[in-house]
Amino acid sequence: MKESNQQFEQRKRDHIRIALDPRTQAEGQNGLGSVELIHEALPDLDFKEVDISTSFFFSGASSLQKDAISLKLSSPIFISSMTAGHENGRQINEALACLSDRRQILMGVGSQRRELDDSNAAEEWAQVRRVAPKARLLGNIGITQLIKTPIDKIQKLIDATEAVALFVHLNPLQEVLQPEGTPSFKNGLEAIENLVRFSRVPIIVKEVGCGFSVETLKRLENTGVFAVDVSGKGGTHWGRVEGYRSSENDMLYQVAQTFQNWGVSTVQSMLNATEARISYEVWASGGVRNGLEAAKLIALGAKKVGIAKPFLEAALQGDAALEALLNRLETELKITMFCTGSRTLQDLQTKKVIL
Ligand code: FNR
Repeated sequence: MKESNQQFEQRKRDHIRIALDPRTQAEGQNGLGSVELIHEALPDLDFKEVDISTSFFFSGASSLQKDAISLKLSSPIFISSMTAGHENGRQINEALACLSDRRQILMGVGSQRRELDDSNAAEEWAQVRRVAPKARLLGNIGITQLIKTPIDKIQKLIDATEAVALFVHLNPLQEVLQPEGTPSFKNGLEAIENLVRFSRVPIIVKEVGCGFSVETLKRLENTGVFAVDVSGKGGTHWGRVEGYRSSENDMLYQVAQTFQNWGVSTVQSMLNATEARISYEVWASGGVRNGLEAAKLIALGAKKVGIAKPFLEAALQGDAALEALLNRLETELKITMFCTGSRTLQDLQTKKVIL
């Protein structure tokens, strides 16, 4: 049954409200507590030399109409995909996009599913672009929509956001626990392959907080995806979020409790990526709450590190809170680099990690 506009607005409001509830966080389960970087007592560096700048670089493909993309970024930290296409989300998205614009960081927009049925929903992006013309946006669509949507309609989502890449999110646990969910994943791998072939921008596959196994990462190897953001367990847990939307006596609430710790942790997902020996980029997210954790994930091989819930909380408080959060995260990352003797992010990736 198709969801009405009212039901859609309510679902999105629920998601934001419940995602802010501490019970939805798989706290302490990201695996980063057991990862250590080695302290360097004599770094051959001045702190001011530490450079966390990076780029988003896509060489394009020899065939079709793909263009090369080269974007300077002030930091590998990005805003993970969160909210889109609803009344409540508009202000949040504008605040986040302005941060992306001012501070030259990537920002994932939330699922653009709404825009597939309602062309007016794409209007939101025109407004966002008016206030944040230089925001570095990454579009977003779920695998269940991708499977049943023609590529030209997906391309419209990319055009609407003027996105530099498109995230395809995989969320089987969420879809199956969501009362309005669409847990139809059959032929998903083929749909990703097809999208990569015809899309003008790079495709990044992500989870939403349950991570990836070695096998799944290997299966994605031949699809031509540009990157996988492992989005592992350890932060916002979508089994929990969907569960808390139901009342305690409902079966879905109880089933969600059973699955409240389901998933592959963010660290284990990164180790799985190393074991899978894949050639695409690996990005990390899922329960990252400070710059030291971001640094550990970079040392484990992540090219970019995404953070969702803390950016949502800060966006609700305003621009000063967003600036303060990003300043803290970037300072913590720089301090970790200084204390491991890493001038650049490439240097950090060569450092030994103790597990
Ligand atoms: C999300 N996330 C998400 N992911 C996605 O690919 N499409 C989406 O529409 C959304 N929507 C969404 C809404 C809200 C309110 C939150 C907090 C998160 C998932 C997000 O991108 C990320 O993968 C997880 O939240 C894990 O990161 P954190 O929150 O632990 O940093």
